[in-house]
Amino acid sequence: MSNGTFEIFLATAPGLEAALCAEARNLGFARPRAISGGVSFVGGWPEVWRANLASRGAARVLARIDSFRTVHLSQLDKRSRRVPWAGVLRTDVPFRVETTCKASRIYHSGAASERIARAIREELGAPMSDEADVVIKARIERDICTIAVDTSGEPLHKRGFKEEVAKAPMRETLAAMFLRECGYDGNEPVVDPMCGSGTFVIEAAEIAAGLLPGRERRFAFEKLATFNEVAWQKLRGAATPAKPIHRFYGSDRDAGAIRMSRANAARASIAELTEFSNTPVAELSAPPGPPGLVIANPPYGDRIGDRKRLSALYRAFGHTLLTRFSGWRVGLITSDVNLARATGLPFLPPSQPVLHGGLRITLYKTEPLI
Ligand SMILES: C[S@@+](CC[C@H](N)C(=O)[O-])C[C@H]1O[C@@H](n2cnc3c(N)ncnc32)[C@H](O)[C@@H]1O
Repeated sequence: MSNGTFEIFLATAPGLEAALCAEARNLGFARPRAISGGVSFVGGWPEVWRANLASRGAARVLARIDSFRTVHLSQLDKRSRRVPWAGVLRTDVPFRVETTCKASRIYHSGAASERIARAIREELGAPMSDEADVVIKARIERDICTIAVDTSGEPLHKRGFKEEVAKAPMRETLAAMFLRECGYDGNEPVVDPMCGSGTFVIEAAEIAAGLLPGRERRFAFEKLATFNEVAWQKLRGAATPAKPIHRFYGSDRDAGAIRMSRANAARASIAELTEFSNTPVAELSAPPGPPGLVIANPPYGDRIGDRKRLSALYRAFGHTLLTRFSGWRVGLITSDVNLARATGLPFLPPSQPVLHGGLRITLYKTEPLI
């Protein structure tokens, strides 16, 4: 750390680094760089708070407060005592340490965590607890140990509004990045014909309304020594709400999903911008008004017998869009290229797949349909 600045790392699912970097640039962070698994830039604590509050794509925000070379545990023990803990951790707030080791002489992550935790306890006097909300993440890679504080706590896809979750919900952070990759910037209507719990529709409406994703939730940084309540409240209040002229539509063949979507939209205070209907995709028509973006992640299916049924579903999705959504662009997220092809939609060459929940999912996009 120097003059109050350090490396801030926004973590994301592999494959979304470039999209997250574009968002970070858009949010005005200084010279963000896309690196493996996330985005890095230099900043201070106000930037950490703002990244947690305003980034829609980051899965969590890490403050990398120190970094040093270490090749054995006693050296790690000694050097860990010189990390500027007192400037970051509070003596009255419990902490815990998580370590990962890769290609390093120190390979026992449990022993490494123990050494770092003991150094903090003895040097600072802060209590350690397995249930602590404040987590120190140490990464030892090629004998370099990076010490980071997880400033988010609960992962950032938990915006704090969604109590009701469908069977296979899209994470809010991923949904926001896929919307961005489809060129969505809040200025067009959005339709999700298989909306489940409403993630795409709610994210799109919030973006259009200028609402900050972290406006209601709590963060781990509130429990650090660096937290400034007055400055934080000022930052939270600095949003510029907009009055969107477009509407955001979700439909699903499952009545339970529609009930959930409505409840989630109401909790996020964007109910009046959204419309949800219990309609199967084969019966859906375009809403009145100008065209915009259709985006969906239909079921992917993991059992062999699903194949035929899913092909028919993707065909019906494609048929509805090709016959009734002229002028609309499409974004389809699926793990199976053959299912994407079954839609018959004129997809552009896809970008890199995204690793999510053990699956490689890909966004397939079209130009406006004719
Ligand atoms: C993977 S989930 C979508 C999850 C959603 N993006 C979310 O974040 O909650 C797929 C959804 O497609 C819906 N679905 C399946 N077949 C459908 C059909 N023929 N018409 C409309 N919706 C359908 C399911 O009910 C399910 O909610």
